[in-house]
Amino acid sequence: MLTSTHTFPKDFVWGAATSAFQIEGAASTDGRAASIWDTFCRQPGAIVDQSNGDVACDHYHHLDADLDLMQRLGLQAYRFSTSWSRVQPDGIGAWNPKGLDFYDRLIDGLLQRGITPYLTLYHWDLPQVLQDQGGWANREVALRFVDYAETMAERYGDRVASIATHNEPWIVATLGHEHGIFAPGIKNRRTAFQVSHHLLLAHGMALLALRAAGVKAPLGIVLNQGPIVPATDSESDRAQARFEDGLLIRWYMDALFHGHYPADVLAHLGDDAPQVQDGDMRVIRTPLDFLGLNYYTRSIVGSEPPTHPPGTELTDMGWEVYPQGLTDLLVRLGREYPLPPLYITENGAAYPDVPSGEHVHDPLRADYLRRHIGAVREAITAGVDVRGYFVWSLFDNFEWAFGYSKRFGMVYVDYASGQRIPKDSAFWYRDFIAAQSARHVTPL
Ligand code: FCB
Repeated sequence: MLTSTHTFPKDFVWGAATSAFQIEGAASTDGRAASIWDTFCRQPGAIVDQSNGDVACDHYHHLDADLDLMQRLGLQAYRFSTSWSRVQPDGIGAWNPKGLDFYDRLIDGLLQRGITPYLTLYHWDLPQVLQDQGGWANREVALRFVDYAETMAERYGDRVASIATHNEPWIVATLGHEHGIFAPGIKNRRTAFQVSHHLLLAHGMALLALRAAGVKAPLGIVLNQGPIVPATDSESDRAQARFEDGLLIRWYMDALFHGHYPADVLAHLGDDAPQVQDGDMRVIRTPLDFLGLNYYTRSIVGSEPPTHPPGTELTDMGWEVYPQGLTDLLVRLGREYPLPPLYITENGAAYPDVPSGEHVHDPLRADYLRRHIGAVREAITAGVDVRGYFVWSLFDNFEWAFGYSKRFGMVYVDYASGQRIPKDSAFWYRDFIAAQSARHVTPL
């Protein structure tokens, strides 16, 4: 029996998310310069299907139709990112008027259709020229980021509901600079931790600069998180889970909310620990107006190769479907940190969707979303202040090292023709949002 306390707060925001490199295409159009992902895609073997972001969903050229589609799907909010190398091709100095204009048209088009824009500044596509100067391993790049953030905020800050600095700094640092499986493809642990420090520093510096400039939009950051659980109760598995929790969760949360990196991780890193200058941690701890969390799954870690119990549901990424992990994560963070309002800035699943006629039947995706939305509701009931939820993703798109082989969209994209086909999950979400707006209690 659902009671009124199980509904979502009245102003709860329902949206969908994308990022610039994954959907825009138009990679060398209207003055856009290469980003590190353009370069990385050209490394043999880097992308499973040898694809790249040159065309992607060609959203750059489908802007109006895509906006109309979002409206038809009843989205209240849309989270997108700006492409730094589109608006500032040299990574320093001149701004590209055509690039800036594209995001004006996007934001105005959203507002005209009653959809609230949520801006992310950095979703992994560093201008290649800045990588040539050392990329995020170079402290100077933090200053370039502040400059970029100031210009974006000055131009768009009065029309967006919030501005997030980085999307998932853990991915940039760890997959991009330690494992080398994401751009820029570096494999060096020490570099990775220096990068993570500079990303956080750039974030804090940008927040201070934007506040000083009087930017009204709430400011925050987006982290990828999920519970890390030991495979067995053994001492070593529990120690490993605790350590990996330190790398993924506490490294970022302790820095942002307590102003220090976790001592156990620093001790473990030894010489690989980042160089931190006086005052850096105070900058990083600058209070957030909101925190975005991206949740997909939990991780099970231990000395044996991870195995899922029989019957575990997996998505096409091989990720376990585990909605309880989202409730657990939110409740735990609420207990351990002085949190600002939270947004689930990404949640969703890849499945190998195939159109049948005019339709794409994706019952597993709608089921995934429904259960994870229920998990958010559980956390709210437990007292966690969550204000919005964004499905990853609006469209099928370029899934990084997986290229176009994984489909996360609520809208199917036929890459050969550019055709968009809303999947059944898009209609399910549309109806769910409508029911929420009508204050109907939806069984989840
Ligand atoms: C997140 C990314 C997003 C997308 C999803 C599946 O880590 O932020 O761009 O790739 O995973």
